[in-house]
Amino acid sequence: MSFLTLNDVTFSYPNGFTAVENVNMSFEKGESVAIIGQNGAGKTTTVKMMNGLLRPTKGDVIIEGLNTKDYTTAQISRKVGYVFQNPDDQIFHETVKSEIMFGPKNLGFSEEKMNENVKKAAELTGLESFLDIHPYNLPYSMKKMVSIASVIAMDTGTIILDEPTAGQDSIAIKKLGSIINALVKEGKTIITITHDMEFVVTNFERVIVMANKKVVSDENKRGIFWNLDILEEAMLKQPHISRLSNTLNFNGKILDIDEMIESLKKQQAKKGQRKNDNNESYKQVSEIL
Ligand SMILES: Nc1ncnc2c1ncn2[C@@H]1O[C@H](COP(=O)(O)OP(=O)(O)OP(=O)(O)O)[C@@H](O)[C@H]1O
Ligand SMILES: [Mg+2]
Repeated sequence: MSFLTLNDVTFSYPNGFTAVENVNMSFEKGESVAIIGQNGAGKTTTVKMMNGLLRPTKGDVIIEGLNTKDYTTAQISRKVGYVFQNPDDQIFHETVKSEIMFGPKNLGFSEEKMNENVKKAAELTGLESFLDIHPYNLPYSMKKMVSIASVIAMDTGTIILDEPTAGQDSIAIKKLGSIINALVKEGKTIITITHDMEFVVTNFERVIVMANKKVVSDENKRGIFWNLDILEEAMLKQPHISRLSNTLNFNGKILDIDEMIESLKKQQAKKGQRKNDNNESYKQVSEIL
């Protein structure tokens, strides 16, 4: 059995609108997966069912062997942490430290474990020197780090990041990549919703594409970003470098700049070889004449 499974899950909001329909997904321990898709595709609704904020209208969500139907949201939040799309929906304490400490305190961790977790989360997110500051006095990108740190401190087996790169500069985006890497190394399962295709290419292997309430593809990144039909159906674009290499007719399903350079070198080597071959033939022909 997988670490986290959604079995034929459908969700309708109280107003009757069905946002997610017959979705199946499963994740292994220590896996890191990106979920992509247009606005309104149903991504946030789907992940909110993974940590019990929403319960499926139909189907089952099984986390580490437990069906969310049989457990309270508080019980499920010990297993799955969710970083909200908007940090202002999550932050409500007066210092960064008390914000990060809230989760572990609530889970009844010992003083020692609580302090250890806060220290680790602050270190990973680069917030060590901001612990006494009011989170509302921090810029948006750092508020987002506070919301991430407060979920990391809960030490759940699964962490869901909803749009972590939105509103972040390139340094923060790099940092996010290294945070995800560090968490995966610890054996955490990381599920990240994002609209940032470059972030996906740099940090994930497996990608799930959602469109119009459903999963339309679940594949490795090369399979997704070079399946132009799927991208069109989901109204998504290839990463910049893939688009460029596609336009320039480069060989191979290129995803990033390093692969493009490699392909360019190979093409140049071939051209050089052809030039050498031509010189050789010219010599042979001259000798015969
Ligand atoms: N509380 C709600 N009541 C009714 N409909 C809702 C509610 N929340 C979301 N929806 C609708 O459900 C659909 C899916 O929303 P969801 O937030 O899951 O999409 P998303 O893929 O996360 O989009 P985005 O990329 O914009 O965050 C949308 O059409 C949205 O308007
Ligand atoms: Mg969303």
